[in-house]
Amino acid sequence: MIKLIYRISRNPIFEKLGFFEPTKMVAPAKRKQDEFQAFYTNCKHITSYMVGILDCESDMSILEPCAGEGIFIDELLKSEKMLHITAYELNGNSADNLTQKYLGIKNIEINQEDFLLLITAKKFDRIIANPPYGAYQSPEKRKQLKKDYPEIYAKETYGLFLIRSSRI
Ligand SMILES: C[S@@+](CC[C@H](N)C(=O)[O-])C[C@H]1O[C@@H](n2cnc3c(N)ncnc32)[C@H](O)[C@@H]1O
Repeated sequence: MIKLIYRISRNPIFEKLGFFEPTKMVAPAKRKQDEFQAFYTNCKHITSYMVGILDCESDMSILEPCAGEGIFIDELLKSEKMLHITAYELNGNSADNLTQKYLGIKNIEINQEDFLLLITAKKFDRIIANPPYGAYQSPEKRKQLKKDYPEIYAKETYGLFLIRSSRI
């Protein structure tokens, strides 16, 4: 059985999907728009907790769908188990940095690709992520996302990542 660990916040979308009991809506905090919503997990306790409950065994295939600076990959590498890690990152600069960072490390594959539009037959044993929240989508991409994920508001990238990961 595939195990999926996502860092998620309480949110009406997840309540609708049945992840939480419904609560009253509160006004969302105002935030500067960011194309990629690149807020990294810079907390060791969170990364080690999440990787801990991921419960990896040697030879497992792991997916990081939006790797950022590779904080979860670093934590996975600490386990010293032979893991096969596949990571996606849309931002070209971040993807280049990841490629440089893990150059020469076996079994890590970095892809500069849009995970939400990805077509792949690959299967994974484990998925770990802190996906972007409300990342900007161009009108064309929004159209495509509406088609691919009719049940989710296209700007709610967090929910889209969760759905996409659960279908992989
Ligand atoms: C919230 S950050 C988290 C990064 C990392 N997982 C962490 O916890 O530090 C989200 C990352 O997703 C990337 N991203 C945004 N949209 C994406 C997409 N459609 N496909 C792949 N990566 C995407 C952003 O560039 C950013 O690095």
